[in-house]
Amino acid sequence: MASRERWGSRLGFIMAAAGSAVGLGNLWKFPYITYDNDGGAFVLVYLACVAVVGLPIMVAEIIMGRRSERDLVGAFQVLKPGSPLWRVVGWMGVFTGFVILSYYSVVAGWTLEYTMRSAVGFFDGMGGEEIASSFGAFLVDPYRQVWWHAVFMVLTLGVVIGGIHRGIERWTKILMPILAGLVVLMMCYSLAVGDTARALTFLFSVGSGISGHGVLEALGHAFFTLSVGMGVMVTYGSYLAKDQDIGKVALTVTVMDTVIALVACLMLYPIIFAYDVPIQESIGIIFTTLPFVFQQMPFGSVMAPLFFLLVSFAALSSTISLLEVVVTYVVDEWGLERPRGAATAAAFIFLFGIPSALCFGAWSWLSEVTLLWKGEQDLNWFDSFDYLATNWLLPLGGLSIALFAGWAMTEADRKSEFETGEDTRRVFDYLFWRFAIRYVSPVAVFVVLLYKIGLVG
Ligand code: PHE
Repeated sequence: MASRERWGSRLGFIMAAAGSAVGLGNLWKFPYITYDNDGGAFVLVYLACVAVVGLPIMVAEIIMGRRSERDLVGAFQVLKPGSPLWRVVGWMGVFTGFVILSYYSVVAGWTLEYTMRSAVGFFDGMGGEEIASSFGAFLVDPYRQVWWHAVFMVLTLGVVIGGIHRGIERWTKILMPILAGLVVLMMCYSLAVGDTARALTFLFSVGSGISGHGVLEALGHAFFTLSVGMGVMVTYGSYLAKDQDIGKVALTVTVMDTVIALVACLMLYPIIFAYDVPIQESIGIIFTTLPFVFQQMPFGSVMAPLFFLLVSFAALSSTISLLEVVVTYVVDEWGLERPRGAATAAAFIFLFGIPSALCFGAWSWLSEVTLLWKGEQDLNWFDSFDYLATNWLLPLGGLSIALFAGWAMTEADRKSEFETGEDTRRVFDYLFWRFAIRYVSPVAVFVVLLYKIGLVG
């Protein structure tokens, strides 16, 4: 067998992993679910979940990937031969990637539409109401929805076919830093002109309390935003060179991801509060607020298309990681060639995503066939998949991975992988991580899930 492809450098891996982590989850989803959950306590629970659940599981995933040099399903088999149960967990991860990518690509498509719109001056002279209603009209336009979804899947496929080093690594290394810079710049502007005090109170004062549903959402989002619980980090870790310190890499990615999510809120909320920008549907948060902001902002007409373009790149570096999980699986396990495996997977995912693209408009009857597990509110197709994947599949996958890495893997496999690396000063100790992955993360996830199905609380 030819030797496995590798990331070109540590920075390359970090950028690709951070590229996977940082995406619509940070710039779009976190601001809107935090808004829906009244901030404060929700943010705190989210941060706690990132630290005690997300980070240890990210370390576990990279360890599994680098040790086995395989996809998620293969990793379970190599590290624990002859246990069919783990294979099911592996399949679940691949399936989760499939589901998330199908609707994620739809929203990613919106960022392309908004890049175009702001480039041609579509929003010039529009007020907040008009901008919001133009978003509503766009949502129900079936052709545009499917078209951009298709375009996004093709872009994703293009990069994934190029492979790890030439495809994924090259681009994320350039685009991620530019995006980070721009988001910080916009945050500064927003803090200067908007209602900063109210935004800070909203985000960080815990007086508001949190519902049981909010806790599950915070946990689910911690998985989603860090791209853990479904094998992205196993897959990317399988291409990581042996001399890298996994703890350090994981910590760096986690911190970057968390900072960008908070910065995104601080970019949006001060403006929303100061100008009473109408947010018709919370999923429209960046699409209704930002065009309004750019109109007032110096150089707004140049910044707007640039910003939406960079958001679409952030989304792209996440969609390629989602597709890569499925592709590494069909290449490693079924022996397909990369281009053919990637094209087939992308085609199926595209088809699977069509109902998500159409469910806002005339095709909303699709919502009627939605899975009825929820009961608390009406969910359309799009929300149902997001709900299923984020709040159930990722936590269940994460729980399984924690149990696997903590209990089923051999101490030798785990420890030597954790401790390989040029550097002997570690950001955290092996035993510390082992305690977290054995007890803290699984118990936390378990309790939240029990709570959710009504067995405790
Ligand atoms: N972490 C990505 C984001 O925040 C989404 C994602 C989830 C990517 C799961 C890969 C796996 O946008």
